[in-house]
Amino acid sequence: MVLDNKLGLTSSADLAREEERLTKSRAKELIETGQLFRFEVGTFKGLADIHRALFADIYDFAGKLRDVNIAKDNFQFAPRMFLASSLDYLDKLPHTTFDEIVDKYAEMNVAHPFREGNGRAMRIWLDCMLRIQLGHVVDWNSVDKEAYLMAMKRSPIATGELKYLLLNHLTDDLSQATFFKGVDASYYYEGYQLYKTEEL
Ligand SMILES: Nc1ncnc2c1ncn2[C@@H]1O[C@H](COP(=O)(O)OP(=O)(O)O)[C@@H](O)[C@H]1O
Ligand SMILES: [Mg+2]
Repeated sequence: MVLDNKLGLTSSADLAREEERLTKSRAKELIETGQLFRFEVGTFKGLADIHRALFADIYDFAGKLRDVNIAKDNFQFAPRMFLASSLDYLDKLPHTTFDEIVDKYAEMNVAHPFREGNGRAMRIWLDCMLRIQLGHVVDWNSVDKEAYLMAMKRSPIATGELKYLLLNHLTDDLSQATFFKGVDASYYYEGYQLYKTEEL
């Protein structure tokens, strides 16, 4: 079973490959045209703009709130019925210091507003906050994928591990090449793993 997609693909391998190709090329465009830097920073609207830009070719739900409840590894993300109010709350959270930015990122991960593609859209959103507030981005290529996933799984309980990990992989090289590595859509791609869902 694969997610309904605009490409009419029914094999998970084909969908994963096309997702990777298209989102990467959209991410590149976002940076090269400078469009990314005109999106709001640190708000759900800004995140939805990123998600829409990355996934518009592939999914009707690009940039839209999910309408199902989703879980991963038995962690249930924000229940659909509380999602809109939790996003309103999130918009108001500060994102000035490194700690505030990572806390906000971890809270947004708990919200998991989209049906799919939260990780990719959110890492770009995180880099935009770090870039504008601190003049740094995460050097994603130097972050160990397993350590990152462990820290993300832990982050709804405590964000210390995630902060330690990210703090040790910040770079002040904001050149397009480095920034693009940070948004490489496939780097943290988990393969095509469907969420456990519960249709509402
Ligand atoms: N058990 C978990 N608890 C909390 N967050 C998780 C868990 N598993 C994965 N994540 C986060 O969710 C992201 C994956 O979300 P997903 O919507 O599939 O995005 P993408 O399709 O872009 O990988 C991971 O990159 C990680 O940040
Ligand atoms: Mg996914």
